[in-house]
Amino acid sequence: MTSKVQAPRCTAVVGLGMIGGSIAAGLKQAGWGGEVLGCDLDPSELAQGLALGVIDRQASLETVARDADLIVLAVPVLSIHRVLERLAPLLAKRQSPPVVTDVGSVKRRVREAVVAVCGSMPGWLVLGHPIAGAERSGVAAANPALYRQHRIILTPEADTSPEALALVRAMWQKLGGELLEMSVERHDEVLARTSHLPHLLAFSLVDTLALQDERLEIFRYAAGGFRDFTRIAGSDPVMWRDIFIGNRDAVLHALDEFEAGVARLRHAVEAGDGEEMLGIFTRANHARHYFQTLLNQSSYQASYHHMEQRNVRYRAAAGGRVEGRIRVPGDKSMSHRSIMLGALAEGETSVEGFLEGEDSLATLQAFRDMGVVIEGPEQGRVRIHGVGLHGLRKPAGPLYLGNSGTGMRLFSGLLAGQAFDTELTGDASLSKRPMNRVADPLRLMGAVIETGDGGRPPLRIKGGQRLHGVDYDMPMASAQVKSCLLLAGMYAEGETRVREPAPTRDHTERMLQGFGYPVSREGAVASIRGGGRLSGGKIDVPADISSAAFFLVAASITPGADLVLEHVGINPTRIGVINILREMGADITLLDEREVGGEPVADIHVRHAELHGIDIPQDQVPLAIDEFPVLFVAAANAQGTTRLRGAEELRVKESDRIQAMADGLTALGVVNRVLEDGIDVVGGPYGGGSVDSLGDHRIAMAFTVAALRATGDIVIDDCANVATSFPNFEALTKQVGMRLQVEVERA
Ligand code: S3P
Repeated sequence: MTSKVQAPRCTAVVGLGMIGGSIAAGLKQAGWGGEVLGCDLDPSELAQGLALGVIDRQASLETVARDADLIVLAVPVLSIHRVLERLAPLLAKRQSPPVVTDVGSVKRRVREAVVAVCGSMPGWLVLGHPIAGAERSGVAAANPALYRQHRIILTPEADTSPEALALVRAMWQKLGGELLEMSVERHDEVLARTSHLPHLLAFSLVDTLALQDERLEIFRYAAGGFRDFTRIAGSDPVMWRDIFIGNRDAVLHALDEFEAGVARLRHAVEAGDGEEMLGIFTRANHARHYFQTLLNQSSYQASYHHMEQRNVRYRAAAGGRVEGRIRVPGDKSMSHRSIMLGALAEGETSVEGFLEGEDSLATLQAFRDMGVVIEGPEQGRVRIHGVGLHGLRKPAGPLYLGNSGTGMRLFSGLLAGQAFDTELTGDASLSKRPMNRVADPLRLMGAVIETGDGGRPPLRIKGGQRLHGVDYDMPMASAQVKSCLLLAGMYAEGETRVREPAPTRDHTERMLQGFGYPVSREGAVASIRGGGRLSGGKIDVPADISSAAFFLVAASITPGADLVLEHVGINPTRIGVINILREMGADITLLDEREVGGEPVADIHVRHAELHGIDIPQDQVPLAIDEFPVLFVAAANAQGTTRLRGAEELRVKESDRIQAMADGLTALGVVNRVLEDGIDVVGGPYGGGSVDSLGDHRIAMAFTVAALRATGDIVIDDCANVATSFPNFEALTKQVGMRLQVEVERA
């Protein structure tokens, strides 16, 4: 209980079934204090409640009205009116009325009952609904732990007294519940869809089968699927009758939506339309997995749809080894592009080595939202049923791209040429990142795009525009901007030409060519003509050099280290990290260099070496743009000073990576000097300490690597986003001999 809330001397539960009994039992067990009264029409329930120690005293409604400071109405929804009719005049006799709350699954109906009896909603009445239940009924089934870690929805009104609300909140907190507040209307709509509809279906399915000729005989043959689906048909019939009477309109609305969905599926079954069925089943399968992770509170897409954030804290113990052979996950840039081009291609595309990280999964989900059938991912394998360049369907709502700048910028290009409007949104970090770098040139091509304040997300893209090719000089070396314009260029009349001030990753150009869409390159200019076609095929995504980079540095700085990283993409536009580390003295050898699906690949052998500080060549900056956080850790372990210039782009990544790294390095005692476009890092021994990754995956992983040579442990906060690019980072660090512990706590 919070310190401001006075513990009630007497709490009464009216209606002592399983729900009310669990409240009473839970309060007593948790040491809520005061006396717990039970009131029920059924004397045997009361006697049992007393015998089981669920309540301290049985009481009439008159006694409850006289003695209790807090009254919980745990009676069926349709009985609330009757109970209130008796209770309200009794309460009116008191000088200051007690706080009253309820647990009904339907809130509008309860509010109507209250208003009918009291004339308006009294300030002392707080409506609530615990989202917890069980199939068993009666006080004998009372479970003091029933509400622990379950959501409790309260629906306070403008006139609800803050003290009353605080007391009801304190009671649920004592029972271990997780509180949420929403309006009565929203509550009833949400519950109609997520609880009332499934109960209705379960009751109906079991009843339909039970009415058939074979009678109950048929259940002998039912297996786990039937049991899982129909479990809730074992719930209390009276309670459910009341709920369906009480929430009639919202339930009917949910049922209409469901019937439309069943009709679509029925039609697909009737027509033998396997493609349509696969679309429905893969979407549902994905949604169900997502739901499961919500239930398990695992980190997968923790910020997806703004769910409650948790702090994932890394505790990287000082020291450790770096040995063995590992394969890091698939390349993030290529994974995004494989889904995008596969979806827009004609025919099927099968992808191997797809990165099952949150960023690329968000891209995959966005295409599902636009009607593309995508099977998988399963162990890096994805099969995309391409719909052609003009086959996407308008999504039902905004496309949520999570943490992914690449996703948002590339999507803006390909959506600018669609016939329908779209809105692109992202998480807190993405919502701060600059989007005018794509919106401005797209507007030059005839696109209509609105950004949020200061050119930041959300992006609202108007469909049905005629795009035309442009000749664009990019002001910054950005593969995302280049790719965005090339994708828009497929929908534009004439030629789109993009000039880059320095070479950037060329996966879009290579993959477009691989899908049979010509892209030409002359010097610094990449160009594409509109009106072509993409044809689906096979894509092998190599391991991501940006993820491998953490282990390249880990091995380079750790005495005795000897590691092979398998099947890593070594596209010349991505190997800045190898070039820079080698210049610092690293011992890195490329083994078995080969070409796979139009991209160069090798196994990389890396051993410990004495590193020395360098002035990082500026032409390497775009080629190592994502690897600087961990390169700064290499610099901290090198003899002398490493100087980086011309890297102002680092300030607009998932975090301001110059400042975030400088702050963390300083916390460990690494001397550094921050400049607008770079940093000087002075090598030397450093200690442990506490650092904040600011939710940036690469900052979190870089400091994990730093611990290998720290003299104390490094604790890193806000690491959940490592899952955006490197979902099995923890497992691989352990596999090579690093000492990372991951702790999860509610933020
Ligand atoms: C990426 C390009 C780079 C990089 C990002 C991925 C891509 O961004 O930092 O992680 O896949 O095109 P910029 O193009 O903005 O430099």
